[in-house]
Amino acid sequence: MDWGMRNRLSKIIKPDDSRCLMLAVDHGYFLGPTDKLEVPSTIIGSLAQFVDSIMLTRGILRTSVNPALDVPIVLRVSGGSTIVGEDLSNEEITTSIEEAIRLNASCLALSVFVGSKYEHQSLSNLARLIDEGEKYGIPVLAVTAVGKEMVRDARYLSLACRVAAELGAHIVKTYYCDNFRSVVTGCPVPVVIAGGKKLTEMDALNLAFNAIRDGAVGVDMGRNIWQSEFPVPMAKAVKTIVHDNYSADEAYKVFKHEKTSSETKAWVGNATSD
Ligand code: 5RP
Repeated sequence: MDWGMRNRLSKIIKPDDSRCLMLAVDHGYFLGPTDKLEVPSTIIGSLAQFVDSIMLTRGILRTSVNPALDVPIVLRVSGGSTIVGEDLSNEEITTSIEEAIRLNASCLALSVFVGSKYEHQSLSNLARLIDEGEKYGIPVLAVTAVGKEMVRDARYLSLACRVAAELGAHIVKTYYCDNFRSVVTGCPVPVVIAGGKKLTEMDALNLAFNAIRDGAVGVDMGRNIWQSEFPVPMAKAVKTIVHDNYSADEAYKVFKHEKTSSETKAWVGNATSD
């Protein structure tokens, strides 16, 4: 692996502990202005300092992220279908490698839809993107997307993750499931998990803890952070699991403490502005 590739990977998976905390804010590329992500600049501005990297599209990067912000970018470069369209799995590569270089992306992200009508197309997209990334030393994160009709079990996710790794993905993102260890064991590259739909904060912290315990190198979490009523305390709590080996209970204590501090600050702010 060349120096540039290793350097970029080290911005995503931190070399000190080989772990990563990625903030996913790419949802608008197929969902539009999702609840609590209507104005991405607000979320990104408040959370960027508490995560290792941000996953987003070029449109949100250009419009909503201060170029002076010192945070590595995981650039979502697949898309082309929406939640109201015919088939979400019908994606293409939507951003060129030259554009990714101009935007100083540290990693590229693309979804694969194993078992879907567009399985072949999405896997070919992945292989092509990896070839492009290899030319310029940019790693690729393969996102194993699951359709509504697909079962998120270890058998299916192992297949999807392994296929992505065989095609050359440098990191694979998937979902936590029963027997998640077997998914990690069968995948020769680092695995991160998506957070999925909004859960209670305690459940989301349990999910992150279980994934790390079972071999994930980290999380690429979105809704369970920015749909929380207290996104900054939640990001800080998830970070303690990823980087400080906190248990879910310990991390929840951090969440509660940070939540109380932010409520107090807001109260003092309101009182002094009256
Ligand atoms: C969509 C994605 C999202 O970034 C991913 O699902 C992570 O976000 P969340 O934690 O909200 O599930 O890749 O295809």
